[in-house]
Order: sequence, then structure tokens, then C-alpha cells
Amino acid sequence: MATPKILVFAGSTRKGSFNKKLAKVAGEALRAAGAEVTELDLRDIPMPLYDGDLEATEGLPPNGRRFKDLLLAHDGFLIASPEYNSSISGVLKNAIDWASRPAANEKPLECFQGKVVGLCSTSPGALGGLRGLVAVRSILGNVGCLVLPMQVVVAHAHEAFDENDYFKDEKFKISVQKLAAELYTVTAKLKS
Ligand code: FNR
Repeated sequence: MATPKILVFAGSTRKGSFNKKLAKVAGEALRAAGAEVTELDLRDIPMPLYDGDLEATEGLPPNGRRFKDLLLAHDGFLIASPEYNSSISGVLKNAIDWASRPAANEKPLECFQGKVVGLCSTSPGALGGLRGLVAVRSILGNVGCLVLPMQVVVAHAHEAFDENDYFKDEKFKISVQKLAAELYTVTAKLKS
């Protein structure tokens, strides 16, 4: 069976991002489950805000192309998505918007179609970003991803991680391991 390739990233660019910490834990759990993991920091590929005039004159920005190529090169994605005003972060939505634009030699939405997605979120609030994942799930489903029903939310993010960026409470580690195992298993089955 070919090893599933999973792209792991957070929908936040800030250095101290709790969702980046969550993505890091999830990436380790995916490797332990047997996946080939690529960790991406969206801070490393900043994209302009989507603008139809910019696209018409210059096409897909270079970092939009890089992001799309990474999506194309992987079988699944593990996304740790912060909640902004009960919804998806602008950074993540903007990256998805650029990647969704058509390109010659590609089928419509090819970088998303049939890709298996595991979602997780953490926030300092009591719901851990749960409401934001509703929007992320809807958007990714509408562009053709297979979003796993299972998801992980971690409330009180500012108290959840230790000085090494690992969970203080073992139960969150176990939840992330379960999500990683599910993402690995479903992706592997679809690949076989
Ligand atoms: C937030 N935050 C937030 N948190 C939450 O639980 N529900 C929400 O609706 C919002 N809305 C919101 C809007 C905006 C514009 C900002 C900047 C922040 C707080 C947010 O969860 C917190 O800043 C997290 O730390 C962001 O995630 P990272 O960057 O730590 O991964």
C-alpha cells in the first residue's frame, strides 16, 4: 500500500500561534500513524488578498502557485484552523480562494477534489474554535474535499500547552492521535 502523503498546516501566520502548536502535535501523530508528512507554515508563503484584477493581469501569485502545488502533491490535509468571529480566518480563506482558481492543464478544483481532510482547532475561548470549523468544513466540502466527521477542538488554548508546546492534558493528545489515525486510515484506503 502506498504511504499516504499528508500536508499539515495552520490557518494562522503568527509566530506564537496556538493552532501551529496543535498542527505540530498532529503532524507528529500522523508520522507515528505511518503517514508521510509535510509541515507548512503559511507565514512562509504570504499571498496577496485575492483580487480579480490582479489575477487578470498577473495570474496566480507565485506563493498561490506554491500552495496549490503542495495541495496537488498530497493525498490529504490536516488543518488546524483558528476561529475568527465564529468563522474561518482570513489567511486560510484567502489561501483556499487562490488555490481554487482554475489553471490550464488542471481539472476544476483538482487540488481539492477527493482529498481527505482532518480538522482541528484551538482558541482561548470555551468552545475552542468549534464554530469556525463549521465554516471550514462547509467550504472544503464545497470545493470537493472529503472532510472527516471526526474533529478535535481544544478550549482554553492559552492554558493547554506546556513550555515544550505539548498538551498538558493527555486527553487532547489522545484525541489528536485518534484524528491522525482516522485520517491516515481513510486516506490509505482511498489510495489503495
Ligand atoms: C479572534 N478570536 C476568537 N476566538 C474564538 O474562540 N472565537 C472567535 O470568534 C474569535 N474571533 C476572533 C477574531 C479575530 C479577528 C481575532 C484576531 C481573534 C481569538 C482567537 O481564537 C485567538 O486570537 C487565537 O489565539 C487565534 O489563533 P492562533 O493565532 O493562536 O492560532
